[in-house]
Amino acid sequence: MVVSVPVYDRLPMKILAICNKKGGAGKTTLAVGLAACLPGRVGLIDLDENGSSARWMEGLDLFDVATGTSDTIADVVPTLADEYDWLVLDTPPNDARAITFSTAIADLVLIPLAPSPLEADQLPDTLALLPEDRPYIVVPSRVRISTSAGKSIRDMCVVAGHPVTTSVLPLSERIVQSFGATPVRLLFRPLADEIVRHAERTIP
Ligand SMILES: Nc1ncnc2c1ncn2[C@@H]1O[C@H](COP(=O)(O)OP(=O)(O)O)[C@@H](O)[C@H]1O
Ligand SMILES: [Mg+2]
Repeated sequence: MVVSVPVYDRLPMKILAICNKKGGAGKTTLAVGLAACLPGRVGLIDLDENGSSARWMEGLDLFDVATGTSDTIADVVPTLADEYDWLVLDTPPNDARAITFSTAIADLVLIPLAPSPLEADQLPDTLALLPEDRPYIVVPSRVRISTSAGKSIRDMCVVAGHPVTTSVLPLSERIVQSFGATPVRLLFRPLADEIVRHAERTIP
């Protein structure tokens, strides 16, 4: 199937799309934790019909959350341009259209990746859905700290020529158990700060 990808003018807010074609890669966890750490006015659009990030935030008032679909995103996002400094798009797995459409409107694509050779082997499947030349960065996720897992996934990315963050998201039971509550900002902070610096440096 050939999807014609819309082309957008840059909007004043910075749009981060969190994508990995694989389910369970840590997209929703990264989207919510990152949104809770970003500076300024932050919105999150949950494009997954399971609605996990929207449900996570129910009853909390940390940032604005809305749900959307690949059909509505192109119309909705530009109307938010003056509302937010950052817009985070949490995308569904195995939905090529949603991934392609949200990455088309994003300034930067974040790809959470577990330190697993099997999951790393599937990275090209996600990258193939990004519009050509769309900036992306791999975010090592669920990394068992105090092992070499973080280093090995970073090394693998460097060898393969994939941009990768220096900070990682640790494997943490506190992260798992924080569903429905305020994300454990302490564990997301180094990564969020690095992503902010990266975005400010690379997004015009
Ligand atoms: N850093 C982490 N440490 C521990 N568990 C994690 C971490 N990130 C995600 N998980 C767990 O992995 C599962 C899948 O994560 P989720 O964010 O829903 O992935 P996706 O949105 O890509 O399907 C969830 O049970 C979540 O709690
Ligand atoms: Mg999800």
